Amino acid sequence: MNFHIALIPGDGIGPEIVEEARKVLDRVAEIYHHQFTYEKLLMGGCSIDAYGTSLTDETLARAKAADSVLLGAVGGDVGNSRWYDIDPKDRPEAGLLKIRKGLELFANIRPAYLYRELKDACPLREAIADAGFDMVIMRELTGGLYFGERKTEEINGVRRATDTLVYDENEIRRIAVKGFEIAMKRKKHLISVDKANVLDSSRLWRAVVNEVAKSYPEVTVTHMLVDNCAMQLVKDPAQFDVVLTENMFGDILSDEASMITGSIGMLSSASLGATKLGLYEPSHGSAPDIAGKNIANPIATILSAAMMLRYSFDLDQEAKAVEDAVQQVLTDGYRTSDIMAEGCKLVGTREMGDRIAERI
Ligand code: IPM
Ligand code: MG
Repeated sequence: MNFHIALIPGDGIGPEIVEEARKVLDRVAEIYHHQFTYEKLLMGGCSIDAYGTSLTDETLARAKAADSVLLGAVGGDVGNSRWYDIDPKDRPEAGLLKIRKGLELFANIRPAYLYRELKDACPLREAIADAGFDMVIMRELTGGLYFGERKTEEINGVRRATDTLVYDENEIRRIAVKGFEIAMKRKKHLISVDKANVLDSSRLWRAVVNEVAKSYPEVTVTHMLVDNCAMQLVKDPAQFDVVLTENMFGDILSDEASMITGSIGMLSSASLGATKLGLYEPSHGSAPDIAGKNIANPIATILSAAMMLRYSFDLDQEAKAVEDAVQQVLTDGYRTSDIMAEGCKLVGTREMGDRIAERI
């Protein structure tokens, strides 16, 4: 089959890791007789340098016209980069929010899985790491606090800032449906996370999740308060299968979940909407401190490309082949420096990409 992929390498380590994902995709195309064409687009700091803003409308339109988008990472060193001396609406992170909103990608899927081979990198107690875990965080991505009205003003000499958290029932319902659909393909256990003891938006969230649950009688649903969830993730991560939550809670909890897998360099993500078009990116950032040194871990981006094969192109077998190749490389003892352990073979970004590609 033919697919046109928009590649957004971005900043920092972005270009290096996207290059490795492309290498793996090319290998998939060769073995399974597909044709992938690519178009490189600028977003983030590199787009600020070229156009003064992190995502132009023209770039957004081109991303929209592709079959899917593969993104590296955007942004620089916040305290130390000229990309942050400009209007907040033009900064790197604004581009990320703009592309998610512009492509109407309301569902963000972030799997957190503890590879047996990386158990020693898990910062939790041995007994907890031994039990392992395999969850996906389903984060609402285009509503809530990150997209509500905000303003900073000065009233009688006192500076005041306001952010607003708004959800309507339709926004909650569509992400809940995605969450239940994913749960049906997994262990059929969904934990919906909110702050219903305080927030109205959370009470509506809980009510709508319960309504949607009626259509999925096979799925067990539990509600958990977000503060408790933060605790449970480090106490007993094995209890989670699908975690369904709103934008900000999901932002925070997905970072926490990634940390307990041992390295954020392993975590993929998919952002989906109502169509097949999706945006795939590693859960980590642009790591400007290690950019250009051939030491970044490309696995999160490669696994994101696998998610793209599965969710945007319906190529399940090919997706599985990429995931199996990653697993095999770890079993064979290859490690980038972030996951290096005694007795393993240290490889750089490019070598890791090569080792994975040759196992497909
Ligand atoms: C993420 C990031 C972004 C977010 C930032 C950079 C806007 O933290 O993808 O989790 O909060 O969505
Ligand atoms: Mg985040």
